[in-house]
Amino acid sequence: MSIIQHDVIIIGAGAAGLMCAASAGQRKRSVLVLDKGKRPGRKILISGGGRCNFTNYTVEPQNYLSQNPHFVKSALSQYTQWDFLGLIAKHDIAFHERDHGQLFCDDSAKQIVDLLLRECADTEKVKYQYQIDIISIERLDNTGFIVHTNNGVYQCESLVVASGGLSMPRLGATPFGWKIAEQFGLKVIQPQAALVPFTLDGKEKELCNLTGTALPVRVSCNNQSFTEALLFTHRGVSGPAILQISSYWNVGDTVVVDWLPNLDLADLLVQAIDKNPAQELKTMLSKVLPKRLVEIFIGLGDVTNCLLRQLTQKQIDHIAMTLHHWILKPNGTEGYRTAEATLGGVDTNYLSSKTMEARDVPGLFFVGECMDVTGHLGGYNFQWAWSSGWVAGLNV
Ligand code: FDA
Repeated sequence: MSIIQHDVIIIGAGAAGLMCAASAGQRKRSVLVLDKGKRPGRKILISGGGRCNFTNYTVEPQNYLSQNPHFVKSALSQYTQWDFLGLIAKHDIAFHERDHGQLFCDDSAKQIVDLLLRECADTEKVKYQYQIDIISIERLDNTGFIVHTNNGVYQCESLVVASGGLSMPRLGATPFGWKIAEQFGLKVIQPQAALVPFTLDGKEKELCNLTGTALPVRVSCNNQSFTEALLFTHRGVSGPAILQISSYWNVGDTVVVDWLPNLDLADLLVQAIDKNPAQELKTMLSKVLPKRLVEIFIGLGDVTNCLLRQLTQKQIDHIAMTLHHWILKPNGTEGYRTAEATLGGVDTNYLSSKTMEARDVPGLFFVGECMDVTGHLGGYNFQWAWSSGWVAGLNV
């Protein structure tokens, strides 16, 4: 069988792979993108509720989790959110800002996939093959790689692994990138679902009676806190606050929930006692929290109902403490099925932060989510895909 030669082969036609293809193509490198799925950018298409939260006005290294927190700095500064916004302007894509600087398409996430495909097409150097099974990869003596597939054998100087993480297996997520990493002697940090809803059991399952209700909370775990919305679900809790904190949570950890992050409940109770001493505590609390939630707190014994005038200062402090520092003990997460991202992956200590190239395997690059870099919710994971893909493209 004849071997077809390209300068660069990219495995994965997702966010990072397509950005890398555009960047390499602009340098007139011939690029072949291989993907096992039927079409490119499938996760982009469903992201941000179909509108793709493609980046954020504020992107800082602190918005990323990695065992090496410094690793993201170089790529994020070589290709910034403003660079991507330049592309958005070039392609005339209307967008809007939501809370916390998050940027979404006005119209559809498909515009982002089209943008990437047009950038690639303009270079006239990028080819694609879909529904490809990669059978094996071998390295030639310091001169490149041979990729054996169900549809031919390809040779390249540079091989870029852009096969993503494990979230959403129904969209074709595979551990392929980590297998390649291990084949070439790179360590893989144990992957784990991130940006994922929590499941509850035992008495906390009562909270599921509020399914569909959302409220602002502050959640804290392992020295991290987020103040955003919490959403009750039929299996537990979700919403931006929970998705964010889930990336810092390990099995067995508790999460501290402040149900009233914008109020001083002790103060409020003192004022209420003064104004309306004959009011029941549950009536007063139902003015600032969903009534059903207050009933659950009473049912669980966290709060004892009484008339406001019967409250002692000690009881006031106890109620305030309980509702500002409520201990939630998730029994697990919904796992990769609904996770938006994957923690862990290819250990960044084995990669150059400037180029994404494996330190000990010249010509082998890893980009995007398959490496141990996980962004907060808010467009940070796509920005990492753009930044890491772009810089790899400059060096393949
Ligand atoms: P990505 O997963 O995009 O692409 C990997 C590609 O590799 C896929 O095309 C896959 O088919 C291919 N592949 C896998 N295994 C292969 C194999 N063995 N052979 C060949 N090809 C293979 N982020 C954000 O910043 N803003 C947002 O709004 C959202 N929203 C969102 C919603 C949902 C539901 C999910 C699941 C995720 C998000 N994300 C997000 C996260 C974001 O989608 C994710 O971080 C990026 O898509 C990662 O880009 P990659 O290119 O690394 O992987």
